[in-house]
Amino acid sequence: MYPDQKTYWLGYKGSNAQYEYENPDTKHFEKDPMGLNAGIQIAQLRKEFGNNVAVEGISMKMYDGQITVLLGHNGAGKTTTMSMLTGFIPPTSGTAQVNGSDIRKDIQGVRESLGLCPQHNILFDSLTVQEHLIFFAKLKGVSGPDVDKEVMSTVRQVDLDGKLKASSESLSGGQKRKLSVGIALIGGSKVVILDEPTSGMDPGARRHTWSVLQQARQDRTIVLTTHYMDEADVLGDRIAIMAEGVIKCCGSSMFLKKLYGAGYHLVVVKRSDCNVDSLTKVVQSHVPTAELESVINTEVSYILPDSESSRFPALFTELDDHKDQLGITSFGTSATTMEEVFLNSELEQEERKITYQETQTMIKMAAGKRWKKSHEDFNKKDDFKQFCIKEQTYLFGLRTGHNRLAKHMFKTFRTGESEMCKCGDFAETTKHML
Ligand SMILES: Nc1ncnc2c1ncn2[C@@H]1O[C@H](COP(=O)(O)OP(=O)(O)OP(=O)(O)O)[C@@H](O)[C@H]1O
Ligand SMILES: [Mg+2]
Repeated sequence: MYPDQKTYWLGYKGSNAQYEYENPDTKHFEKDPMGLNAGIQIAQLRKEFGNNVAVEGISMKMYDGQITVLLGHNGAGKTTTMSMLTGFIPPTSGTAQVNGSDIRKDIQGVRESLGLCPQHNILFDSLTVQEHLIFFAKLKGVSGPDVDKEVMSTVRQVDLDGKLKASSESLSGGQKRKLSVGIALIGGSKVVILDEPTSGMDPGARRHTWSVLQQARQDRTIVLTTHYMDEADVLGDRIAIMAEGVIKCCGSSMFLKKLYGAGYHLVVVKRSDCNVDSLTKVVQSHVPTAELESVINTEVSYILPDSESSRFPALFTELDDHKDQLGITSFGTSATTMEEVFLNSELEQEERKITYQETQTMIKMAAGKRWKKSHEDFNKKDDFKQFCIKEQTYLFGLRTGHNRLAKHMFKTFRTGESEMCKCGDFAETTKHML
């Protein structure tokens, strides 16, 4: 650096600026934790395979001392994201920093601190469990007598002591996963990336792995994917849900349950002489916002919003005291599960999947009514794109105050082309809504 250069006097402008991204959508994204170091920082990371956009410019941070869980349907882009973070595949654009090293400029630096458990085991058939662990411990810079110590503690950690001398090809599916988790953790890797680590493990082994990971998260940044919702709930300090290559929401399990959860489910088991209407009246006399969810065989299910929890005791007492009169045998409650959160977030995606053509048609129809200005606003392609990303068609109506119309339009578009062509009918049905 020379005095005649600007940087000599001003220094380099925060090279981390690209990672300083705060999602303005505070409804779906919980504020990042304060005071924690981010082992992984992702900035606009994107991957295209030909015409297929697998990861669509995601930005987020994953923190030391935490487990960040990535959830998403098959093909959502989880493995692709992890493959870019570990340098398996190069990003199309954007970048990420893993433990201080940029994945585009210093993949060697990334790998020094990295432990990986890939979705599909990458093991050497003829090497034993012990040889694998020795190999990876040395690869990660462990040397001398520490190697043996590390190998023995890891093998105990993942519960493979009995298989130390067994070749990897002779291991069962679950045992191979345990070995892959051990390989990821050995050598004190600061950043550990685990792609479906517990797939194929029995329930006991899964729970064991949970406690191993919970202990291992101290001083490390751990990222994992899973299709087990209970696992995400137990392990995830922060949970991000991905769909179509985009992170749709992120936050603690509590945050996401508040966002997508219905609240509590009250399940009442009825006798044949039970009158469901009377039962519903009793439930709603205590919790007016309770909704009848379903009646299946002898089970009547209600949704009780958690904001009304102070009214639950009186309701339960009444149900308990009047079992005979109400014709019920028992009842119980359950809270929102992660599964519900995941499915509801997917449902939201479904509703938002709407094509350019559909939106154009809708806008044209709407333009004939009161939304002329909006039509012009959104007619340009760029505006449309922004509009899609930010709010989508469904919210278009909400924004202009036509809540019911927005929902109706949505249904109309989802029912198919023929329905869409009936503009006249559409105008007729929606007339009273405008
Ligand atoms: N090497 C590749 N070439 C072309 N397309 C790919 C490649 N790898 C992944 N894809 C595509 O990218 C998308 C995301 O795949 P990815 O493996 O990241 O999903 P995932 O979220 O890990 O799913 P799963 O839960 O099934 O493991 C998919 O549509 C997939 O077909
Ligand atoms: Mg995957």
